[in-house]
Parts: sequence; structure tokens; C-alpha cells
Amino acid sequence: MNARLATMEAPVMARGAVVMAGEKVLWAGPEADLPAAHAKAEQQDMAGRLITPALIDCHTHIVHGGHRAREFEMRLEGASYEEIARAGGGIISTVAATRNASEAELLAQALPRLDALIAEGVTTIEVKSGYGLDGDTELAMLRVARRLADERPVRVRTTFLGAHAVPKGQGADSYLEEVCLPTLRKAHALGLVDAVDGFCEGIAFSPEQIARVFDVAVELGLPVKLHAEQLSHLGGTALAARYGALSADHVEYANDDDARLMAASGTVAVLLPGAYYFIRETQLPPVAAFRAHGVPMALATDCNPGSSPFTSLLLTMNMACTLFRLTPDEALRGVTVHAARALGLDDCGVIAPGKRADLAVWNVETPAELAYRIGFNPLHQRYFGGSAC
Ligand code: NIG
Ligand code: FE
Repeated sequence: MNARLATMEAPVMARGAVVMAGEKVLWAGPEADLPAAHAKAEQQDMAGRLITPALIDCHTHIVHGGHRAREFEMRLEGASYEEIARAGGGIISTVAATRNASEAELLAQALPRLDALIAEGVTTIEVKSGYGLDGDTELAMLRVARRLADERPVRVRTTFLGAHAVPKGQGADSYLEEVCLPTLRKAHALGLVDAVDGFCEGIAFSPEQIARVFDVAVELGLPVKLHAEQLSHLGGTALAARYGALSADHVEYANDDDARLMAASGTVAVLLPGAYYFIRETQLPPVAAFRAHGVPMALATDCNPGSSPFTSLLLTMNMACTLFRLTPDEALRGVTVHAARALGLDDCGVIAPGKRADLAVWNVETPAELAYRIGFNPLHQRYFGGSAC
């Protein structure tokens, strides 16, 4: 009661109410319309605070070993992200650190990052594998990702990203056939995979190679998504659209044709302004084309040790507005309703009857305030499946 309410399905209400029952929302709307049947329910005065759906981080690599602060220094000295990767640093250096860590260590390193996200009202995160690049470590990463949901009140969706980089000393094709695809099948058989991702880039895999991974995903009945058009235009977005991908992510180098294909296939554009900022990219994603064609835009931290060591979705929202010129309203949609869609979830991301009662209560008056402040956390309370925690 007495809340400003952004359900993401109707304009912001000045005085709204949400009725919860168990894990779900029973009713949401203007307080004046509260059905008599609910008037006797236990009430909480929100003192004019803003209620939004809880936030969803739909693209993270939060489970990984070690850090890459040395590469940060090298880039400050003039090396580019691609140069470092080609010289054997980059993803491959995190692969070494991840292989050397036990599952307990990977979990211990991931939890503080997860806690930072939760502290800002996140209740659902996606976690990718992709720093193992061998059968055992890829499976370990996915198991650790799943364990995060036992350790904290959060929902985790796991994505198999075996096609993230080519391991040292191996050819891309033999790695795919001998390691990546058999591991995908095994991880799926163990129930560890919700979706399949790849990195389509000159320093990683070609569209043809990614298509082989996607064919196996289709065979297994798993949805796909893709790191596409991050550093160059290679055709990954069109490929993703052809496979009806849930999302194409990064997409700075995507063009108007790509946006049209994504709109037709219902593929969400996941924008990652943290990575854009951190590697000092200058190519802006085609936001105007996404708007013109009606491509939903989601936002995520891309939390990873190389290109985006970020654990703040609020900062991500600010960057999407300042760097990509999204409106604060688009930014909020990007971390709620569109993020849910990027994960193929239809039970969260909005506040409506029958949806999960995953809510964030903020000490702010307007949604724009969420994107506007930097380095300040206005979260008052988070509800995860109806429980304040
Ligand atoms: O989303 N683009 C590829 N993967 C990550 C970077 C991973 C890394 O540098 O460790 C990304 O930006
Ligand atoms: Fe990523």
C-alpha cells in the first residue's frame, strides 16, 4: 500500500498496491481499485516508495577463477583487448585460473559478486560456463553456478558457453568436435544447461562453427543466444536470428539489416555498456535501428574478469543512458521485462497476477532516479518469491 508502482505493464502509478500470496502476485494496481476481497489482507505501508519488478541480470560470467588486473594495466599502456587475447592473454588466462581452482574456491569467489548484485535488488541471474574449455571444468562451472541458488535467495539460469575461445594448442574445429560438443551433450544429460551460447568473433569462432554448436542445441531442445558483433561485423546476429535465438548480445557492430532480422525472429538485443566502456569501444550499438524495428533491448552487467568486471546493474543502467542514450524507462525495461525475455522466462520481469512475487522496493520517487545516480544504492527491500530477503 501507499507505493509508487511500476508494473512494467501500465504507466507508473502514483499510489499503487501489490497483493502477494505465497510465491506469487495475486493482484497489482491502483490502491483505489483494490478489490474488497483483498482489503483485509495484512498490509504494509510503503511510505511512497517505488516498487518495481526485481532486477534480472541476463548475461554474466560470474563464476570464474582469478582476475585480470594486469591486463587492465596493459591496456592502460596501450594494448587493445584483441591484441592481449591474440598474445595468449584474455579469456585463455582466465581459463588457466579457473582450471586451477576447486569448485569450493570458484563458489567462494563468485559469492561476493553475487551478493553485490543481490544488494541492488537482483533476484535472477544468468551464469555462463566458458572458462573451462575442457569437459571437467565446464561441468564444474555449471555445477557451481547452480549451487549459487542453494547458497543465496536467487534464481540462476545456466548457459553452456563451451564455444567461448579456442584452447591453447588446439584447432577450433577439433576442439568443437572432440571437446565442446560432447561436453554440451553431457552437461545437458546431467540437467546442468538451460541455454547454449557462443562467441562469434575473429578471435573465437566463425558463424559456420557456431552453427554446428547451435545444431546440437536444437537437437537437444535447448534455446540459443550468442555473443555477436562485439568487435567486428561477422554475421553472428543474422545467424542467431536464423536459429530463433533468445538474444544476441553486445551487438555494437550490428546494422539495420540485423535489427530487422532480430525483430522478425523475436531475438532480444542484450546491450552490455559495461564491456563497451571497459574496453573503450567506440562503435555504438544501433539503438535507433532496434527502436525502429521494435527489437526489445535488455541490459546486463556481463560480469567477467576481462571485458567487464562490473557487479552493478544500477551502474549498467546509468551507462546505457549516458553512453547509449537509452531513456531511463528503456533502461528499467532492459533489466526487468526484456531481461526476462532474453532468458526465455515468462513468470518474472513484470508485476502482474500469477507472476512470481520478485519485487524491489526503492527509496526513490521515480524510475528515472534508478538510472540517474552513480555509486549509490537506494534499495529499501527485495522480495524473492514473496519473501522479504
Ligand atoms: O562477454 N566476448 C566474449 N566474452 C566476454 C569476455 C570474456 C573475457 O574477456 O574474459 C564478454 O565480453
Ligand atoms: Fe559475455
